[in-house]
Amino acid sequence: MTNDTNVTWHEHQVARSDREAMKGHKGCVVWFTGLSGSGKSTLANTLDHRLHGHRLHSAVLDGDNVRHALNASPSMLRSVHGDDFAERFGLGFSAIDREENIRRIGAVAQLFSQAGIIALTAFISPYRQDRDRVRATMAPGEFIEVFVDTPIEICEQRDPKGLYKKARAGEIKGFTGIDDPYEQPLSPELTLYAGQKSPGELVDEVIQYLQEREIVR
Ligand code: PPS
Repeated sequence: MTNDTNVTWHEHQVARSDREAMKGHKGCVVWFTGLSGSGKSTLANTLDHRLHGHRLHSAVLDGDNVRHALNASPSMLRSVHGDDFAERFGLGFSAIDREENIRRIGAVAQLFSQAGIIALTAFISPYRQDRDRVRATMAPGEFIEVFVDTPIEICEQRDPKGLYKKARAGEIKGFTGIDDPYEQPLSPELTLYAGQKSPGELVDEVIQYLQEREIVR
């Protein structure tokens, strides 16, 4: 494929199927979405640990961590790269910045998946359109949307980082679920009720799904 930037797509010598045959499982993207404090990171990490224990190749991409490097904020980039660069490429929590955050993560997760890895992503990813755009870049069955359906009351009660408290006090503007929307998935592959069951039980549900779809054995 060539476009007006004269950039050409290259096929690689080692095919995805070769990598999957070597690993004994398929690559895919398990996309956890839900409110801050809903349990996305805990579930992604519990699942990662479980898959790793079965000698399956998984990797976690996590909101807070990715926002330290690939999707760093303007203030993190400023000292090394300068003001113009920081303003242009640094990401915060405006709608357009969240859109770019999710677009970049989607592209990285897809690279992982194509390399035969089970990519586990834990981002609020609050906007349906952004998630659907990521899904549209993937092969059928490759993108597994997992809605971590924890009521905001429970997330706010947990408030592990004290962010809901700050948002209620007006110290954080545009906080998801408070003064910025969270658009629930309309037809996720899985919905997990993280307010009602333990992480271990919920991870069993994800593994069962992966087995039923013959992604893992
Ligand atoms: S998004 O919406 O998908 O781009 O967000 P994400 O990259 O997952 O980052 C979410 C974490 O950033 C912290 N944080 C905020 N969340 C929501 N809204 C606002 N305004 C905000 N500011 C900072 C918060 O710690 C989120 O982490 P989790 O793990 O979801 O609680």
